[in-house]
Amino acid sequence: MLSLSFRFSCFTHSSSSHRRLLFLLPSPTISQCCFSVKPIKQNNGNNLQSSSSFSKGSPFSGLEDVFVSFLFGKKRATDVAHMVWKHVVQKGDTVIDATCGNGFDTLALLNLVADESHNGYVYALDIQKDALDKTSLLLEESLSSNEKQHVKLFNICHSKMEEVVQSNAFVRLVAFNLGYLPGGDKEIITRSETTLLALEAAKRILIPGGLISIVVYVGHPGGREELEVVETFAARLSVENWICCKLQMLNRPCAPIPIFLFRR
Ligand SMILES: C[S@@+](CC[C@H](N)C(=O)[O-])C[C@H]1O[C@@H](n2cnc3c(N)ncnc32)[C@H](O)[C@@H]1O
Repeated sequence: MLSLSFRFSCFTHSSSSHRRLLFLLPSPTISQCCFSVKPIKQNNGNNLQSSSSFSKGSPFSGLEDVFVSFLFGKKRATDVAHMVWKHVVQKGDTVIDATCGNGFDTLALLNLVADESHNGYVYALDIQKDALDKTSLLLEESLSSNEKQHVKLFNICHSKMEEVVQSNAFVRLVAFNLGYLPGGDKEIITRSETTLLALEAAKRILIPGGLISIVVYVGHPGGREELEVVETFAARLSVENWICCKLQMLNRPCAPIPIFLFRR
């Protein structure tokens, strides 16, 4: 019998106790699963609604199936992130891939923003030249020359994103896929200090209705500290202006954790 537990946490203050839904399923492999909504202290006394009471038109409506698929191990953290992006990003938007790596996220973003009137841009950043080469190659193989013009690649630390993004750009999404480059040097990883600076920069340039999306990996050295830094940053965002949540599997301590910070 396998017991699967899953936590959907809003970074918020609430006086209510930790609410938990328990499902008993007849499946031979998954007999019990637990979905809980756990309030986390935020810097403001207001209450934030739980996922079950989000109104229609909220950034979460329509995403229930994806969240449940993640819960049952049928979708990866990055798949969940991509689905959430689809709900938020529109054709013609400017978005930032803050850790472009092998280019898969960049390509997914390009497909969301590129439109026929040549609006819509993806700024793709990475500190490794190797990563930019891989992203370039993927774009080369997957896109027409017109489409490629919608992507701007920068070999730069994401904490400096404001130096490369046009000052009048309306940035709808900043996406972070933290950790090391898959298939690359595992010593070169995102670091808490620069991740925090980059989150602060993202907060400054994001438009209302925008999203900071973060996938955090805790299985490598420094990963848990980085998660703590991201959570602390999120918990300090005001309830009036932000909806902040994370999806964490409680009994898979090393599973990647998607975190979403929606600017209202
Ligand atoms: C998990 S990978 C990203 C995967 C990528 N999004 C994809 O779709 O393939 C993390 C990437 O972050 C990059 N990185 C690490 N520190 C960084 C920093 N300070 N600024 C920008 N990129 C950084 C690494 O070089 C690595 O390529």
